[in-house]
Amino acid sequence: MSLEEIVTPLTTLWKFDYESNIKALRSLYETAKKEQWNAATDIPWELEINKEGVGDILDPTGERFPKYDFVKALSDEKREQFAARRSAWTLSQFLHGEQGALLCCGQLIEAVPDIDGKLYAATQVVDEARHVEVFHRYITRLDQVYSIEPSLHKVLNAILQADLWQMKCVGMQVITESLAMGTFKSMKESTQDDLLRNVVELTAQDEARHVSYGLIYMKEELPRMPDPDRERVEDFALGAVRLLVGGGGDTETTGGGGILSSRKLVYSEVGIDYDEAMAEIGAKANDPEFANTGPRMFDDYVVPQLQRVGLVTDRVAPGYRELGFDV
Ligand SMILES: [Fe+2]
Ligand SMILES: [Fe+2]
Repeated sequence: MSLEEIVTPLTTLWKFDYESNIKALRSLYETAKKEQWNAATDIPWELEINKEGVGDILDPTGERFPKYDFVKALSDEKREQFAARRSAWTLSQFLHGEQGALLCCGQLIEAVPDIDGKLYAATQVVDEARHVEVFHRYITRLDQVYSIEPSLHKVLNAILQADLWQMKCVGMQVITESLAMGTFKSMKESTQDDLLRNVVELTAQDEARHVSYGLIYMKEELPRMPDPDRERVEDFALGAVRLLVGGGGDTETTGGGGILSSRKLVYSEVGIDYDEAMAEIGAKANDPEFANTGPRMFDDYVVPQLQRVGLVTDRVAPGYRELGFDV
């Protein structure tokens, strides 16, 4: 399936007062114009990819996966292929997320009520187009593009189909892009592939700006919303976090859940029995030698941002605690 149609309820607002009214957004717009880069010419595409050194968010130090029996059983060549495919799978999810961001920002231009918010969103559309370009180009050199994980697909569609623009902004800029920014920063530190380091370094700079937009705008906007609408945004945020934590790929033992996942392909294509591999990962989940020592993106980036804009209220805090967050 290369084309999917969804119907989105979008209210388009003209704004005939062109004076800036949210100065912090106007200055972010100025920064965004200055920090544009060109995915075709500012990335050293002439570099060879170090396929085994690419690394990914599930094993940032590259120390955990080689210890599993199902990886040890592979030949050197298959092990390199497996590493490249796992990385391509993870990066494919980001590629789909980048397209989701591109579509969402197009909607925000229309839906937000402030001129500063519209102008800034226009710069983010170009940023996201560049990210789609750069990740697609990198992934196809590494391996191939894998299909979108069902949980991520659900969250992105919920953002695109939300009837309140504040839900879109929280779902995309505050939640999804905090996750992306944290992940790209971590990849930048851990990858041994110079080409990927260049890609994620430039992308993370843009994502930091996108998160700032969400934080600045939502701090301004949430207090001026009527209570019932604000509560809907709080619930939307918790729902998105629940979906992403439950199947979003920061653990290999969840996800899938009966739905055929493209993740299975990554394993089966190099001759690994997916169910056996998952059983081994599950059995060793509490073994300190196999502990996931990578950064905890939701604890370190996503939930603190939601707290910062005031969306983790007493009313919804129990829901976050149920998911294991210390709020
Ligand atoms: Fe992006
Ligand atoms: Fe972004």
